[in-house]
Amino acid sequence: MSIQYHEQSRVFSLETAHSLYQIKADATGVLLHLYYGKKTEQDMSYRLFLTDRGFSGNPYEQRLNRGYSLDTLPQEYAGSGVGDYRLPAVQTVSENGSRSVDLRFVDYQVEKGRQPLNGLPFVRESADTETLKITLRDSVIGLDVELLYHVFPALDVIVRSARLINTGKQALTIEKAASACLDFLYGDYDVLHFHGRHCMERIPERLRLPRGVAAFGSRRGMSSHHSNPFVVLCDRNATENAGDCYGCMLMYSGNHLEEMEVDQTGSTRLVVGIHPDGFSWTLNPGEAFETPEALLSFSGSGLNGLSHQYHDLIRRQVIAPRWQNVQRPVLINSWEAAYFDFDAEKILRFAHSAKDLGIEMLVLDDGWFGNRNDDNRGLGDWAVNEKKLGCTMKALSDQIHEMGLQFGLWFEPEMISEDSDLFRTHPDWALTDPDRKPMLARNQMVLNMSRQDVVDYLFESMCAVLDSAKIEYIKWDFNRSVANCYSKALPASRQGEVAHRFMLGTYQLLEKLLKHYPDLMIEGCSGGGGRFDAGMLFYCPQIWCSDDTDAIERLEIQCGTSYGYPVSAMGAHVSAVPNHQTGRVTPFGTRGVVAQSGTFGYELNPEKLSDEEKEQIRVQVSDYHRYADLIAHGTYYRLTELNVEKDFSAWMFVSPDQKEALVNLVMTHVRANSPVPFVRLQGLLASGRYCLEGTEAVFSGAALMYGGFVFKHVHGDYAAVQAHFVLDR
Ligand code: GLA
Repeated sequence: MSIQYHEQSRVFSLETAHSLYQIKADATGVLLHLYYGKKTEQDMSYRLFLTDRGFSGNPYEQRLNRGYSLDTLPQEYAGSGVGDYRLPAVQTVSENGSRSVDLRFVDYQVEKGRQPLNGLPFVRESADTETLKITLRDSVIGLDVELLYHVFPALDVIVRSARLINTGKQALTIEKAASACLDFLYGDYDVLHFHGRHCMERIPERLRLPRGVAAFGSRRGMSSHHSNPFVVLCDRNATENAGDCYGCMLMYSGNHLEEMEVDQTGSTRLVVGIHPDGFSWTLNPGEAFETPEALLSFSGSGLNGLSHQYHDLIRRQVIAPRWQNVQRPVLINSWEAAYFDFDAEKILRFAHSAKDLGIEMLVLDDGWFGNRNDDNRGLGDWAVNEKKLGCTMKALSDQIHEMGLQFGLWFEPEMISEDSDLFRTHPDWALTDPDRKPMLARNQMVLNMSRQDVVDYLFESMCAVLDSAKIEYIKWDFNRSVANCYSKALPASRQGEVAHRFMLGTYQLLEKLLKHYPDLMIEGCSGGGGRFDAGMLFYCPQIWCSDDTDAIERLEIQCGTSYGYPVSAMGAHVSAVPNHQTGRVTPFGTRGVVAQSGTFGYELNPEKLSDEEKEQIRVQVSDYHRYADLIAHGTYYRLTELNVEKDFSAWMFVSPDQKEALVNLVMTHVRANSPVPFVRLQGLLASGRYCLEGTEAVFSGAALMYGGFVFKHVHGDYAAVQAHFVLDR
């Protein structure tokens, strides 16, 4: 049993392979967080220390015990307005205007497995999953909060969420409902968060937590390029390969907030959930509200160790089983090859050249529907533009399939152009404020996905296209941030619900489509990686990592992404040079090595390739197949430390049985008479003897890990080298 309850002490212990998470319902029913970290056998309540801090008041029933304060005790799900002055986890307003929430322990339940969430993505249960449900109650306002803990012992993961139920007779307005609240009574932490912008997503930044509040998040109606819903708190001295690290990833694709507060005594609180700005939710008597899930993981062996836990979690319990063990097709995408300038003839010529190079799928990107001849119009009109193509979608798809390629198509379902038949017919389907011109971005508006009629329209119009031709894959794009988040279908008092209802509508549409087409592969996208999150990964086994296809920029983007997400989820393509985003010229081989650490493909005009480049593609495609399992299922190690200036970037994969390893190195800055690139390998069998492919050299695993490996002859701008080691038999 990974969940244990001790009746006398009222202590709950949640155990995973290497961690313990402990909670206690104290004598007054306050739910205290005792500990999260390396495993111990102990009741950790000895760590609590009750002392009068002054200006930290006492609950009424503890008025004579001045050391007892909600403000200084570690709370498992902090209420508000009743004496804990730190960040609240939950905030409501009652009909009489009271904003106080004071939750006390009522009951608990333990069960095997887990129930899915209602309309939200969730972590799929594994054979060893167990669930703890703790019910807390504020009987004054009539609020029950069910705290859910799904324990994944082998994966070292605890998944948390909260369910708020109105048990009273009056409506409650929820203003904040966090997915998780985590108090660290002692310790000094750094936070690692992932910021960015369009074309530069998930840049890791490590900061010492200041006194007071630090916060990251998105109010863009999407998880965003700008701040990923994933943070790591780690010991000040933690490195890639040593030290205590705590990860918290929100499984959600909309507005989110990650807040940390270091309080008067140096304790740290982490609160994660839907962003409360602009959010409110009317909870009528008898109704319930479920938060998205927060995926917690603890590693005592550094950031690489923590990443491995998230990679395994996502590969095994988040990605749909249908795609877990399937080698993804090598695809060629038409976007950078043709943009809007194509017809079926051109696409068929691309397909023909691609087939000859070993490529397996052709994806027709933006521009095939409505009057979409540029990015100013047509979104929402999901009818094939046969005039532009010169044939039906079926005729195009049939010919591509006859060549032996699969076929994929681009959609941007949640958007609407002003210049579209859809907007002319249903102007009220766009998110717009009454009496106000909408904010436009890429000259487009956002559809009101909180409306069932909008979701139904999209389902039907997408099905019409998908039924008309054989289409194995769709790229699901989302090309602007949300604004004017107002629904004409909801009353004034419920406008604070629109942003979350929008996400529920999107998830519903994804769910419906996948139920209808269980073999359809959906690649997520949002101007590249603007919605790269565990919520989208529940539906989409891969997500286009960035619109920046420059190999050197991609090193940073893919490395930053790797802290929380596996390489098998990152869309990565070889594109033409000079690169369309940066103008940089990199060797063809380097572009191949970088894209290979992702779901491999091409984004270039295959008719413009030299014979030498064509030959390189054939080799790259065959290498991709050779290493596909190692890369998709292996253990990934970052070999260059964050924030340590280096002239190269290096990373490696080790197969689960440790018999094989692939080391990659790319020079980011070439210098004369420079230090020799040197890395210490990771994850090998110390006693194993590894042959370096293509040479006579044999090394012990211990030598490669402790003495390192030297890349002796790396020359030229942005050169890449791979070293493939195989265990000697
Ligand atoms: C976004 C995507 C690109 C491409 C364009 C098409 O920017 O990230 O890959 O699909 O849209 O408009």
